[in-house]
Amino acid sequence: MRDVAIIGAHQTKFGELWDFSFRQLISEAGIGAIDDSNIEGGNLEAMYIGNMTAGLFVQQEHIAALIADHTGLNPIPCARIEAACASGGLALRQGIMAVASGYHNIVISAGVEKMTDVVDATPAIATASDQEWEAKQGATFPSLYAMIAKRHMYEYGTTREQLARFSTINHENAANNPKAQFPFEITIDQVMNSTMVADPLTLLDCSPVTDGAAAVVMCPAEDAKKYTDTPIYVKASTQASGTMTLHDRKDITTIDATKVAAKKAYEMAKLSTNDIDTVEVHDCFSINGILAIEDLGFVEKGQGGPSVEEGITENGGKIPVNPSGGLKARGHPLGATGIAQAAEIIWQLRGEAGKRQVEGAEIGMTHNIGGTGGTATVHILSR
Ligand code: COA
Repeated sequence: MRDVAIIGAHQTKFGELWDFSFRQLISEAGIGAIDDSNIEGGNLEAMYIGNMTAGLFVQQEHIAALIADHTGLNPIPCARIEAACASGGLALRQGIMAVASGYHNIVISAGVEKMTDVVDATPAIATASDQEWEAKQGATFPSLYAMIAKRHMYEYGTTREQLARFSTINHENAANNPKAQFPFEITIDQVMNSTMVADPLTLLDCSPVTDGAAAVVMCPAEDAKKYTDTPIYVKASTQASGTMTLHDRKDITTIDATKVAAKKAYEMAKLSTNDIDTVEVHDCFSINGILAIEDLGFVEKGQGGPSVEEGITENGGKIPVNPSGGLKARGHPLGATGIAQAAEIIWQLRGEAGKRQVEGAEIGMTHNIGGTGGTATVHILSR
């Protein structure tokens, strides 16, 4: 296997982007990443696109061919990668494996979702759960994660305020991220008093419905300095699957796929939690941010809530979490999220994150989940 380096990254603004079509979003991300890499588009040997459900959101399938054609990259081999909200993380992993194996040299992995063109995104998002056993019984994602939150509160004494604090920290970080959907601060009171979505989760515990795209370009590590002075090296790329439904789990407060993917990633990188300077976690709901820091091993099981309250996840704390603002405040365009997480870590490790820079960040991690944990990917990147 060859070592792999990432040489370019770009993310569009995230939000409700009425002025951008699906193809314009992904083109902006791709062209931005190509420019950032100092390569020509013609140097790309393969393209992987993370996308959950363009068919339902914009009535467009066969999107990899559409994107190759629209961006002038024909006859590049290209494929759409789908794993619900982990589609971006998997597209990143496919690109890394293509370069690591020697099959391709310069590869682009991107992600895109245009979610706001439909009146109600919830039924489309719910197709990522088990239709027969969950969605058709009325269990949408907010309600599934609400059940997890209730159980976590019951088992470990996690408080409503601690969940809310996860959201307010994300917004503090997003306030310094001009590409975030919600670049402003919110208070714990505002979270707790916002509209109830699924008890105990209110509007401001939830990631939003978002349009956006992101892309990264990678090549063999030994070639990276030809293109950039600041290559970012891939130390680990792992994936695990877990049960689709909550009722099949022994313990719904643990996401086994995250634990397995994280364990493999630490082994692959020969690193431990203490070596990670910052992490982008998959906080589609505030409770999932708390599960993530537990399941990735940064805090003991059950200690997620108190740890957030103590401030260890703030920028400047022991393990700064979601310097971008996370899914909650940067936004969550499903298929783009895993790539946007990588872009944020790349900017952090290059020292290019401006006011949200994590001081001295050398090693970073991304954690991307599909559904309630049917899929999890973990990546470790280093300067
Ligand atoms: N955070 C902050 N503000 C939000 C927000 C969020 N998560 N969601 C909506 N808003 C704001 C909107 O900008 C809007 O503000 P405006 O009135 O000033 O324009 C207002 O709140 C109402 O927004 P609206 O879009 O009407 O909300 P909604 O009730 O249709 O949807 C949710 C709210 C939480 C149900 C929806 O965002 C949602 O389903 N989120 C979860 C997405 C999801 O499941 N992702 C996959 C996870 S696995």
